[in-house]
Amino acid sequence: MSRDETEQAHPLRSARWFRKDDLPGFVHRSTLAAAGWSREDLMSRPVIGILNTWSDINPCNLNLRVLAEEARIGIIEAGGIPFEVPLMSLSENIIKPTSFPFRNLLSMDVEECIRGYPFDAVLLLAGCDKTQPALLMGAVSARVPFIFLASGPATPRSFTGGDLANATGVWRLVDKMRAGESTKDEFSKLERNVMGTVGHCAEMGTASSMAAICEALGLSLPGSSLVPAADRRRSFIARDVGRRSVGLAESGWPQGTEILDQRAFDNAIALLCAVGGSTNVIIHLLALAGRAGVPLTLDRFDEIGRQVPLIANVQPAGEHLTERLMAAGGVPALMKRLKPFLHLDAVTVDGRTVGEIIDAAEVLDPDVIRPLDKPVRVGEPLVVVRGNLAPDGAVMKACAADPRLFRHRGRAIVFEDVQTVADRIDDPTLDIDEKSVLILRNAGPVGAAMPEWGMLPLPRRLLERGVRDILRISDARMSGTAYGAAVLHVSPEAAVGGPLALVRDGDIIELDVAERRLDLCVDETELERRRREWRASPQSHTRGYRSLYNQHVEQAHRGCDFDFLRGADTETLPDGLFDGWVGGW
Ligand code: FES
Repeated sequence: MSRDETEQAHPLRSARWFRKDDLPGFVHRSTLAAAGWSREDLMSRPVIGILNTWSDINPCNLNLRVLAEEARIGIIEAGGIPFEVPLMSLSENIIKPTSFPFRNLLSMDVEECIRGYPFDAVLLLAGCDKTQPALLMGAVSARVPFIFLASGPATPRSFTGGDLANATGVWRLVDKMRAGESTKDEFSKLERNVMGTVGHCAEMGTASSMAAICEALGLSLPGSSLVPAADRRRSFIARDVGRRSVGLAESGWPQGTEILDQRAFDNAIALLCAVGGSTNVIIHLLALAGRAGVPLTLDRFDEIGRQVPLIANVQPAGEHLTERLMAAGGVPALMKRLKPFLHLDAVTVDGRTVGEIIDAAEVLDPDVIRPLDKPVRVGEPLVVVRGNLAPDGAVMKACAADPRLFRHRGRAIVFEDVQTVADRIDDPTLDIDEKSVLILRNAGPVGAAMPEWGMLPLPRRLLERGVRDILRISDARMSGTAYGAAVLHVSPEAAVGGPLALVRDGDIIELDVAERRLDLCVDETELERRRREWRASPQSHTRGYRSLYNQHVEQAHRGCDFDFLRGADTETLPDGLFDGWVGGW
């Protein structure tokens, strides 16, 4: 359907609640009279849901309360009626055992909240890592127009006379401390400064990557994603987002699924490579594509990754933080540089195409947003490897790893869980050197809800010798702020009998990034013998959400969504809920 046809044919969804002179209409209107909205308002104006993941246990999202108020102003100015709904807030560093399994739960919260309430369009407010993909996944499944606004990155503070404190710096300082090159005093100064203001992590970690990706997908307003959380401009953006949400409600165009087609995902993957973004985004994009009905696979990441260089000079792969990237022109300028790789006709929530948006963009700092022929680092930023150790694939952020490990053959040292890593990694009897390959298993989606344990610590004695990277392989994820030669998301995972479960101490592992190979060099007869001996561990959860999660979570190469959440149903509310008696009272 064309844009004009859609706008003409689009009846407001909220009309079914409010615009009939019958008993249900009476009940719905009189209920909301208590919230200050008159019969005339409800019978004439579109209804906008502000879905908010604000919580004061989640400082990455702490400014979302303010942004919701600004958005509310924009909605009212444009003639809409705003209703704000609080959602589960997933605070990455606080929630245990890891935030990851709750992404799907939050997405269900979003989907059912949109479906059950009379929203004509929704405005999504999120920041910290999992809150962003969860809201997108739920909203696209609900099939109601939506627009996304991120909380924005924190503003880093200066640290020890120059360095700006950030999470990537924490990992580097941990290594320095373990190597005896730093003091506890330096560490406690970093603790006081690392989360300098409200807002999400300020390097190209998972949250900044996801926010930038939302813009590249066309789901947020151009130039909005990387404006710092504490910057007054973000309030103005929130008002614009509020106004735009009313336009989406009135026209019904574009729907999330009209934006999220193959072109949008290709554009997003190109941006992910150009910024050296978080490997977590790969999982989130696969899950989002599953909801949107786009047949995205890991191979597409590798195909695009072979073409698009790392041109954003931001940590952890580069030097700066996202504030500099914003000052250099932000996502629109980056996408202008990426023009040869993009689908310029892709639709965005702004109403313009990607091509129209980037025509107006400008690169303001060529050191931060490099030309394509002067990348921050030569080589593919993200790679997908396969082999008999990862038949369904594994990923590696090559741009943040030591290239000397790209072609590597070494002896495996196997850890069954993260506690064993902590207990044994500094054990002087551990037979380990810089050629060893650390293996962590049982940390995949079913094994341990896939925590960010993939950047395994290096043994103190190697750090003291100046070693800063060795090959690490796991079915876990890795923080977007982390770095190192970590092959992640090995699929299928060990807990469901994937080949990672068959590795023994001393086995030879071979990685060849150029050939995209990851192999366990053990002959097939011996592997078959081990396969027969392998037994699954008993289910760790027998009730509640975690039991549901373990039964239905898909493997990493499919995005770890629930098998029953792929796609969207076209369920409409039956007339009986409106035309007869209503519940309540
Ligand atoms: Fe929330 Fe990094 S801890 S974005």
